[in-house]
Amino acid sequence: MGLPEQIEKLRFDFLAQLQSISNSKDLEALKVKFLGKKGPVTGLMIELKNCSAEDRPQLGKLVNELKEELSQACDASLIRIQADEMKNQFSQEWIDATLPGRKFNLGRMHPISQMLHRVLDILIGMGFSVRLSPDVETDYYNFEALNFAKDHPARDMQDTFYLNTEYLLRTHTSNTQVRTMEQFSPPIRIIAPGRCFRNETISARSHVFFHQVEGVYVDTNVSFADLMATLEEFASKLLGEKVQTRFRPSYFPFVEPGLEVDVRCTSCQGEGCRICKHTGWLEILGAGMIHPNVLRKGNIDPEKYSGYAWGMGIERLTMLFGDIRDIRLFTENDLRFLEQFP
Ligand code: DAH
Repeated sequence: MGLPEQIEKLRFDFLAQLQSISNSKDLEALKVKFLGKKGPVTGLMIELKNCSAEDRPQLGKLVNELKEELSQACDASLIRIQADEMKNQFSQEWIDATLPGRKFNLGRMHPISQMLHRVLDILIGMGFSVRLSPDVETDYYNFEALNFAKDHPARDMQDTFYLNTEYLLRTHTSNTQVRTMEQFSPPIRIIAPGRCFRNETISARSHVFFHQVEGVYVDTNVSFADLMATLEEFASKLLGEKVQTRFRPSYFPFVEPGLEVDVRCTSCQGEGCRICKHTGWLEILGAGMIHPNVLRKGNIDPEKYSGYAWGMGIERLTMLFGDIRDIRLFTENDLRFLEQFP
């Protein structure tokens, strides 16, 4: 076959193969196959050297034209194929700009933590510092040092989880009292937040697990009036200036006198409602002047010093002022409940 025929055949083969190509990778391969260094077009160029000097210009022109034509055909196909490929890709990867954005869930503080922080903020602002004591406690600090004798009937007021004959889960944060007195000498001015445990039947009103904050103040000349003033100040900071307080005599073995503090029902302003059980008052804490026996256990001379203490339940406060009717909600982790406390 002469060169002109070879050129024609190449053109024909190339165009036939180009027709069936539908992606840019195959097109590149076809281009290399025909126009690459080892391809037939380069082969023709080499063959030109064997032609007579007379024919060479004419044949050279034909080869060059072929080369030009093939490479232009490749370029034109590339543009068409790439446009098709892009169209394909876009149709597969389309973005619906009208879709709503993904929801970003922010965490929030548990309502019990929120109340605890509020209470601590107020009391720290009033000069108390925070002390912690163990959840797993000895009978001594939880009961005996607090003037509960072994057979004291007041032990029955708090159903206790005993771990063995010596250790128990503390039933109140009052276990912090004598521990703190042993470590520090007066003036002592502390608050103790923490978990407490009681072996109660779980119901809407009581749980085996809850939180308290204890307060203790010991110094020279601490009087009952100081106790009242401190708790009144605390109540007004927690519930507003207008809150009314009421001090009722009560009994706890570790204080004398002992009392319970009520506030005017914040829901009905004293008219009487479901929340205050139609009494007009809500009990918020227990308190009293620290019993001389307890001071002695803490190596503090009751002739020289006096003090007051109080304790309050955080679940109780949260329930009263958030109108929450079931204590079990706090431990069930139901977002429908928790999301109501932003
Ligand atoms: N510990 C008591 C309880 O859990 C509360 C209490 C009452 C604490 C009187 C006190 C107090 O410090 O003086 O019921």
